[in-house]
Amino acid sequence: MNFQALVTPAEGLSALSADTLLIVLPADGGDVGDKVIDQALQSALKQGDFERKAGRTLYLHGLSGVKAQRIVLVGARDASAKSVKAAVGLGFAALKGRAVKHLAVCVGGAVESGHAESLVLAMEQASYHYSHTKPSAEAPQLPAKVSLVASKNDLAAAKAGLARGQAIAAGVSLAKETANRPGNFCTPTYLGEEAKRIGKDHGMTVKLLDRKAVEKIGMGSFLSVAQGSDEPLRFIIMEYTGAAAKAAPIVLVGKGITFDTGGISLKPGAEMDEMKYDMGGAASVLGAMRAIGELKPKINVVALIPACENMPSGRATKPGDVVTSLSGQTIEILNTDAEGRLILCDALTYAERYKPAAVVDVATLTGACVIALGAHHAGLYASDDQLGEDLLAASRTAQDPCWRMPLDEEYDEGLKSNFADMANIAGRAGGSITAAKFLHRFTRKYAWAHLDIAGVAWKGGAQKGATGRPVGLLTHFVLARAGYKG
Ligand code: BES
Ligand code: MN
Ligand code: ZN
Repeated sequence: MNFQALVTPAEGLSALSADTLLIVLPADGGDVGDKVIDQALQSALKQGDFERKAGRTLYLHGLSGVKAQRIVLVGARDASAKSVKAAVGLGFAALKGRAVKHLAVCVGGAVESGHAESLVLAMEQASYHYSHTKPSAEAPQLPAKVSLVASKNDLAAAKAGLARGQAIAAGVSLAKETANRPGNFCTPTYLGEEAKRIGKDHGMTVKLLDRKAVEKIGMGSFLSVAQGSDEPLRFIIMEYTGAAAKAAPIVLVGKGITFDTGGISLKPGAEMDEMKYDMGGAASVLGAMRAIGELKPKINVVALIPACENMPSGRATKPGDVVTSLSGQTIEILNTDAEGRLILCDALTYAERYKPAAVVDVATLTGACVIALGAHHAGLYASDDQLGEDLLAASRTAQDPCWRMPLDEEYDEGLKSNFADMANIAGRAGGSITAAKFLHRFTRKYAWAHLDIAGVAWKGGAQKGATGRPVGLLTHFVLARAGYKG
């Protein structure tokens, strides 16, 4: 798909040369501003064939006086970017099976860059399909060209939004694809190769550390998770330099458990396959790095991904084992299924060496977060209020919602251990919060935030698949920190 911004012809939309028009009609909006199309709209409204409401569509074929051979009218709740995204998705679905080559989209009112971004993201949603291990999967039919219709005044905003949208959409697709690939394809080695590819394409420095290197550094906690698996671990380091070399970077840390069996604290069998998605944090960090590489904001960004499997074996960590983390703090591993925090804590300590402006980790960390927030909001924890606010703001503009959660010291109580500086689990209550408190102990030297994406990184059931979240949130956060205005 080729995206472009197109100025509305002076004669109106009916003079536009595209074979298909998708016209979004916000409930509170005015006319389309084209005589023929407005007449058709009025008569459809009068005759009860259409309502200006979210979820309604009307298909018109071969309307005389209109150059385009097909028109889809789509109702939208309002003129927000979010409503436009939903409407474009619905309108495009109504075009299924029709030979659309050039789709021109009109959002019904002033075009903002957020509308343009929404259009691209809606098209990404419609076009992504998984085929790596299912070559028989039917590929969706896509238009070669997609145009966003805008007035001359709105052209610059439309173009900026399309560019941003395409970078984020490519990151989202990459995150989905990486996460969807099964554990026997998406291994720590594969994640490392993917990071190398992204780095090569966008001029980033990528270093891959193996077990020996990780041992040398002293990441005893990360190693204690990896040791139960025959699959080689990776510690992935990506460095994007968009500002002066000495400018403090933003560090993104992604949980890269390519399969989580629970280890000796083995998980029950039902839905265990979904634990291939336990590298969703890593996937979203890779996706965001790809988007950043394309948009080239003037800021430095480092990505750290500890990647390994969590397996039971004769060499696996046992409940009660005590390990020494990179920070020097000892950890009593009471439950080997609380492994995400064990690999993240060493990556978070490693982040100190960058003297970062902020560190944000992203992890499918706890089932408790799914219970707390469901599949809509990710859990957001921040030790620094400005960082928390910035991430919330980015989540709103990206339509990638998260919800602020508490970090009070009272929640730290349960992590006490008689045999180490801390245990790796507390009681069942507030499980997402106590996991965050565990990480908090390793992040005292910089502004830190944590996103628990266990509920939002993938969908289960018939729609099983990765969502690509929170690539949009992370990218918008980095852009905003770089002072990007669009
Ligand atoms: N990867 C899981 C978290 C998870 C579970 C994400 C279900 C999505 C759906 C994590 O490693 C884990 O197993 N966490 C445990 C922690 C517990 C042992 C304290 C959990 O949430 O049950
Ligand atoms: Mn686990
Ligand atoms: Zn896990």
